[in-house]
Amino acid sequence: MSTAVLKPRRARRVSGRLEPNAIEPSEAPRPEHPKSTKWVLLTSSKGGSGKTTTAYNIAAFAANDGLRVGVVDLDIQGALTQWWRLRPKEAPLIRHFHATMDSFQGALDRAAAADLELVIIDTPPAIEAFDGAIRLLVRRADLCLVPSNQGGVDPSVAATWLKFLKRERARAACILNRARTNSRSFQPTKIELQSAGKLCPFEVRDLEDIKETVTLGLGVLELAKANGVEDYRGVWAFVRSELSLQDSEV
Ligand SMILES: Nc1ncnc2c1ncn2[C@@H]1O[C@H](COP(=O)(O)OP(=O)(O)OP(=O)(O)O)[C@@H](O)[C@H]1O
Ligand SMILES: [Mg+2]
Repeated sequence: MSTAVLKPRRARRVSGRLEPNAIEPSEAPRPEHPKSTKWVLLTSSKGGSGKTTTAYNIAAFAANDGLRVGVVDLDIQGALTQWWRLRPKEAPLIRHFHATMDSFQGALDRAAAADLELVIIDTPPAIEAFDGAIRLLVRRADLCLVPSNQGGVDPSVAATWLKFLKRERARAACILNRARTNSRSFQPTKIELQSAGKLCPFEVRDLEDIKETVTLGLGVLELAKANGVEDYRGVWAFVRSELSLQDSEV
């Protein structure tokens, strides 16, 4: 089993040195932009597509990048909550809120009041059963992410859901999860997801190290020598750019 490699809590880099050939930053005062929270919604109408795993791995990447991040678990099964409870004290801080699809406004209000830069909401399977609630959540989200497994009916179910999100005028994208890049279904799955709208250009492979993280309270990047770190680094770079969440050094 891999061992944890935890970074210090505030990992934001504050190096004053400039890289060689870097352009000197202007001394002119910059306009003040009010800090606002970005909301990411993990949603899909297919169970077991990777919503929870994607939610906490993005949260772990964000926390290790020094962002103030929170997760909201709206699944009564509480898989994200269980993961969060296992999180080691010394790991970069992730705030946690738990509610249900029937009553989540209080949890969203608490998350909104917590001075966070990023809040990631995880939803249960069979989300169509919560028609009114999911529309409210989609309206709230700055970005909806729809993970899909590879092959079988999964890509077409994800594609249909992505089209619903587009009709709701949400910013939304699919992520190919549990990718088996050497399998015959790899390319057709990507084409189907891309044709439905937007597809994250980085897939997440089907990896034991990723599966293991659920029992550790860690993101895969917090495991020593784990496979899958680069997969989520790609996903995180995509999310960051979709949200215009700039790197602290930019
Ligand atoms: N990239 C991956 N590699 C290996 N295993 C994975 C990967 N992504 C998810 N899994 C495993 O697949 C299973 C389903 O993932 P997960 O719980 O994240 O899906 P979900 O969409 O949240 O499911 P539900 O709809 O039941 O809430 C879990 O056992 C998880 O550990
Ligand atoms: Mg889940």
